[in-house]
This record gives sequence, C-alpha cells and structure tokens, in this order.
Amino acid sequence: MISSTLFGLASLASAALAAANCTGINAISPKCASKEALHHRDFFYVGGHYVAGAAGNLTYDQLYVEKLTPARGVNQSRPVVLFHGGGTSGVTWLNTPDNRKGFASHLLDYGYQVYIVDQTSVGRGSAENLNDYVMRIGSTAEISEKGFTAPEITNAYPQSQQHTQWPGSGLKGDPIFDAFESTFIPLTSNLTVQELSMRSSGCQLLSLIGPSFLVSHSIGALHPLLLSNDCPSLVAGNINLEPGNIPFQSYVGNATSSVGRTSARPWGMTNTHVTYDPPIANSSELAYKLVGDDTPANRSCYMQTGTIHKLTEVAKVKYVALTGSASPHITYEHCVIDFLQQAGVNAEWIKLADKGIVGNGHFGYLELNSPQIAGVVHEWIQSSC
Ligand SMILES: *[C@@H]1O[C@H](CO)[C@@H](O)[C@H](O)[C@H]1NC(C)=O
Ligand SMILES: *[C@@H]1O[C@H](CO)[C@@H](O)[C@H](O)[C@H]1NC(C)=O
Ligand SMILES: *[C@@H]1O[C@H](CO)[C@@H](O)[C@H](O)[C@H]1NC(C)=O
Ligand SMILES: *[C@@H]1O[C@H](CO)[C@@H](O)[C@H](O)[C@H]1NC(C)=O
Ligand SMILES: *[C@@H]1O[C@H](CO)[C@@H](O)[C@H](O)[C@H]1NC(C)=O
Ligand SMILES: *[C@@H]1O[C@H](CO)[C@@H](O)[C@H](O)[C@H]1NC(C)=O
Ligand SMILES: *[C@@H]1O[C@H](CO)[C@@H](O)[C@H](O)[C@H]1NC(C)=O
Repeated sequence: MISSTLFGLASLASAALAAANCTGINAISPKCASKEALHHRDFFYVGGHYVAGAAGNLTYDQLYVEKLTPARGVNQSRPVVLFHGGGTSGVTWLNTPDNRKGFASHLLDYGYQVYIVDQTSVGRGSAENLNDYVMRIGSTAEISEKGFTAPEITNAYPQSQQHTQWPGSGLKGDPIFDAFESTFIPLTSNLTVQELSMRSSGCQLLSLIGPSFLVSHSIGALHPLLLSNDCPSLVAGNINLEPGNIPFQSYVGNATSSVGRTSARPWGMTNTHVTYDPPIANSSELAYKLVGDDTPANRSCYMQTGTIHKLTEVAKVKYVALTGSASPHITYEHCVIDFLQQAGVNAEWIKLADKGIVGNGHFGYLELNSPQIAGVVHEWIQSSC
C-alpha cells in the first residue's frame, strides 16, 4: 500500500520533471504555461432587437463583443476593435495555433483597450434568423493549405515561393496546422443580412466606447469600411490586414487566375449600399471596367469608368492596408488601393516587405513574425492619433 503510493508520487514527480510537449492542442495541458498578456476580460452583446415568434420574443442580430483590459492599465487614448475574417471567429486574435502570444496580447502589451467581436451569425454571434443567415462551410483543409499556410507547394503565383513564416509544415497532420484548421467554423453565405446587422450593431458599439481604431483581417474588412461610411466620426482609423473585399470580384483559395474569380460586391467593396457622390440609388449605376495587365504576379483590377463616384463618407477616415510579401494578396491588393484612391479615399498601402518584414502569407498575424506586424499596426496608430 505504502510502496504503491510512493511509486505513484515518484511517477508524478518524474512526469512533472519531463519537459511538457506544448505543440498544437497539447498546450491545453495544465503543464503548459499561457503566453498571453496579463489582462482582464469582460463580455457584452451589443445591439440586436426582439422579434416576436410563436414561442415568445427572440433577440436577433446582436453582436458578441469581448473587452480585454491590460492588467497594468490602459495608457492609449483610443481603443482598438478587432474584426476577424471569413470562416473563423474572434478567437483568431488570441493565442496562436503554435501557442505563442496572440495579436490581441501584443496590443494589450502596447497599452490599448482591446475589443474583439464575433461577426453576427458567426461563433457566439447571433444566428437566430436562420431563414436569412443561410450558413455554409468554413475553409476546408485543402483551401487553407493552398491559400493560407503552404501556398509555396501549389505555386499558383511566383511570390508564394518566398513564404517562410508559417510555423510548421502548414499541411494537414501537422499539429500546428490541425490546431489552426480547427478554428474554422460555419459562416453565412448571405453577406447582405450580415452587413446590415454589423453596421447597425457596430456603430452602436462605437457610440458606447468612443472613436476607435478598427483592425480587420481578410473579408472582415467589409465591416470597418461600412462603419467608416455610417459613423465616420467614431472611426479613428481603418487598418486592414490583407483586406478581402476586392472591388467587384472575389478570389477563392489558390484561385488567383481569371478562372477562379467570381463577381462580387456590387457596391464596389461592399454588398450593401454605401454613400457615393454623385449619389446613386442602385449599384447598377456604377460603371466599371477591368484595367491593367493580368499576370500571376500582378492581377488586373476593376476601376470605375465614366463619371467617377466618390466615397465621400468613407473618405473621412484614414485607411491603410498591410500585405504580406508571399500572400496571394500581394498579387491583387493594389486593386483595393487604386479603387479607393480613385473614389477619393486617402488609402495607404504598406507592403510589409518595404518595412523589412518578409515571408508572410495571408495569416501573417498568426505567423512567426507576428510581433513585428503588430509593431507596424502600433506605429501606424501612433502616427494617426
Ligand atoms: C509533441 O506533440 C506533437 C503532437 O502530438 C508531436 O507531433 C510531436 O512529435 C511531439 N514532440 C515531441 C518532442 O515529442
Ligand atoms: C413579444 O413581445 C410583444 C411586445 O412586447 C408582446 O406583445 C408579445 O405578446 C410577445 N410574444 C409572446 C409570444 O409572448
Ligand atoms: C504604454 O505602456 C506600454 C507598456 O509599458 C509602453 O510600451 C507604451 O509606450 C506606453 N504608451 C504610452 C502612450 O504611454
Ligand atoms: C488550385 O487548386 C485546385 C483545386 O484544389 C487545383 O486543381 C489547381 O491545380 C490549383 N491551381 C494552381 C495554379 O496551383
Ligand atoms: C439575405 O438577407 C436579406 C436581408 O435580411 C434578405 O432580404 C434575403 O432574403 C436573404 N437572402 C437569402 C438568399 O436568404
Ligand atoms: C437595380 O437595377 C437593376 C438593373 O437595372 C434592377 O434589375 C434592380 O431591380 C434594381 N434594384 C432596385 C432595388 O431597384
Ligand atoms: C500591377 O498592376 C497595376 C495595374 O493593375 C499597376 O498599376 C502596377 O504598377 C502593377 N504592379 C507591378 C509591380 O507590376
């Protein structure tokens, strides 16, 4: 009896002495320390409205918001609000798939009050209204490998060969990739209803917290653009990590060629109306045409033609896009910048390579040099305060 207890204690002690394996999901073990910044966390649901149903009244369209406060206090004048991209949720800003400090933590370290949202209908966002919020699958492992974590293997565009910053092989079966891929969850295919609820709840959020810097990833860039249109005085700056709302067209996974493009976003960079001058009542009044040579390294773009309509409200907010040197976006992000500039928006483009930050794919904020990318965001905010 005594000896078996002693044996049990001895094996516990030796397990504790052995270095814990904290790769991928293994980091959930009590033996693995958190790398996140010390902070306090509160949550809120913002906006939404009651809809009467047979069983009673349900709340529709409310926005899930987490409020992260640095433990040693906030010392930046403006909050930062983080908007995730398609198929994932607000968790994407927390600890990385290889268990390094997440992007939100870097911002907490700089002293910002940080807010993280889950898009309406996604994650902890509301999806009561399933009639309108038709859900679809998130990113498959194959789309993630080719488009995000290992584009160098399919080599759909020459810059993919410079991709070096993804932790691990970036392929199915690698524990870091598997942890990343597990963050993909269903998303809505009806961006109209989602945009309408995000712009209503989003401006309510900003009216509660005051003018803020909005940081988005990929197709999450739809929402800060719409909030810039609807409540520009509440948007201190609009920071887009690889914006996915390419004017009038979408690219899927590795499909950067004309074959892989589909028409999208009839209002230019959004699915729902934004203010143009001269005003338009219907997006069909926007005339646009494809310009520029189309090569795998540099894609052609849609630009307005004829009467150029200006995005007068969006133009009230400073805009910046950050792009990784090895991401598919490096081949078409100029389309976003050129379109916005033509529409009168002071849009700035930071190619991360110009700052000496190289080797990033589409999820740079999760990659090995993510602290440097957070540094660029911080620097831009400081220069815009
Ligand atoms: C750590 O765990 C991962 C995932 O289970 C495994 O692939 C890897 O080989 C392990 N590493 C060591 C050093 O045991
Ligand atoms: C839903 O709320 C409305 C307005 O407050 C109320 O009139 C109605 O009875 C409620 N529906 C149910 C089923 O309780
Ligand atoms: C806020 O605190 C952080 C962490 O100590 C520091 O890096 C930053 O410079 C401070 N910023 C201001 C505006 O005081
Ligand atoms: C892109 O992915 C598709 C489907 O997985 C594949 O068939 C195709 O060869 C890939 N294209 C390039 C250019 O790598
Ligand atoms: C998408 O949402 C809009 C706005 O709620 C709704 O009018 C429309 O019917 C929905 N479309 C689909 C295909 O569900
Ligand atoms: C917008 O214009 C198109 C093409 O003329 C037309 O089919 C559509 O019904 C119009 N939409 C609205 C809301 O008026
Ligand atoms: C890419 O194409 C655009 C036009 O779509 C052009 O303005 C730009 O100079 C090109 N960039 C490079 C690096 O060739």
